[in-house]
Amino acid sequence: MFYRRLRKVFFKPTLSLLPIALLSSAFLVNVAAAATLGSAAAARGRTFGGAVAAGHLTEAQYAATLDAEFSGVTPENEMKWDATEPSRGTFSFGSADIIVNHAQSHNMKIRGHTLVWHSQLAGWVNNITSGSDLLAAMRNHIAGVMGHFRGRITYWDVVNEAFNDDGTRRVDAFQRLIGNAYIEDAFRAARAADPNAKLCYNDFNSEGTNAKSNAIFAMVQDFKARGVPIDCVGFQSHFIVGQLPSTLQANLQRFANLGVDVNITELDVRMPTPATAANLARQATDFATVVRACLAVSRCTSITTWGITDKFSWVPSTFPGQGAALLFDANYARKPAYTSTLQALGG
Ligand code: XIL
Repeated sequence: MFYRRLRKVFFKPTLSLLPIALLSSAFLVNVAAAATLGSAAAARGRTFGGAVAAGHLTEAQYAATLDAEFSGVTPENEMKWDATEPSRGTFSFGSADIIVNHAQSHNMKIRGHTLVWHSQLAGWVNNITSGSDLLAAMRNHIAGVMGHFRGRITYWDVVNEAFNDDGTRRVDAFQRLIGNAYIEDAFRAARAADPNAKLCYNDFNSEGTNAKSNAIFAMVQDFKARGVPIDCVGFQSHFIVGQLPSTLQANLQRFANLGVDVNITELDVRMPTPATAANLARQATDFATVVRACLAVSRCTSITTWGITDKFSWVPSTFPGQGAALLFDANYARKPAYTSTLQALGG
């Protein structure tokens, strides 16, 4: 019946091809749905994010790559203390808002980064001389920044990089003036400021099992035992090609077993520049290893690369002579690591 009616509308040769055309276009749509990092990650229940700088969003290729491939964003610098509260009690959210609005209009998850950190701290904070005054300033900062974005942030990096590699506390202004308890105080203030955001502790060189991750583990265990609010641990994952910690997956799993989500928050894999084909191939293996480790841990809910393109990566200026650390090269071409990442995600 259906075909007989169609025959009146279409020429016969078209008609005989029609079912095939319909089938193959449906097939293409399915393939396309899993052919980006974001959609492949979504099929595994994960978010694939990228660190974004507000100033680059006006570059068409930057925005197009972000929008096509990524399902999450982390503002690279725009939510840090020096950007959001440059002078005491005066908040500024202009560039952070640009990123948040962009992300929301493209249905991307947003990771807030970061509230309490020794670096990129507004100068006035370091001039505070008493613990009670610094505590008041820290609580007010958390309330002001989280309050502004309340309800829009999935994960917040509440405290960043509070430990040294040997597992001792980093002696920054917060540690010096407030003492050990500043971290739990920050998490309590964060819970009050945005009860729906997941609250994370974030650090680097803690991806494998070592003195630093042991210290973070002990802190999370203690927080859980005493009811201090903490929901997740971020592992920055700024790696060197060929040097991933062999205990990555086991380490993610032991944290997940404490009842927190774990996130790969700032992934990049740097190498000497100019990049060689051999290092790009090794990098592809490394990215896939990280993705597989995350997928093997059910509470590993997101992977974020620290940037979109090698063109704007923080690596060359921070580690002179190194770079090529991301999935898209400086011309936005997909690198071998892009393909291996997508494949590891199952795309
Ligand atoms: C970096 C940014 O990428 C740079 O643009 C900025 O100049 C310095 O900070 N760990 C973190 C990130 O938690 O905030 C850092 O980002 C990289 C290391």
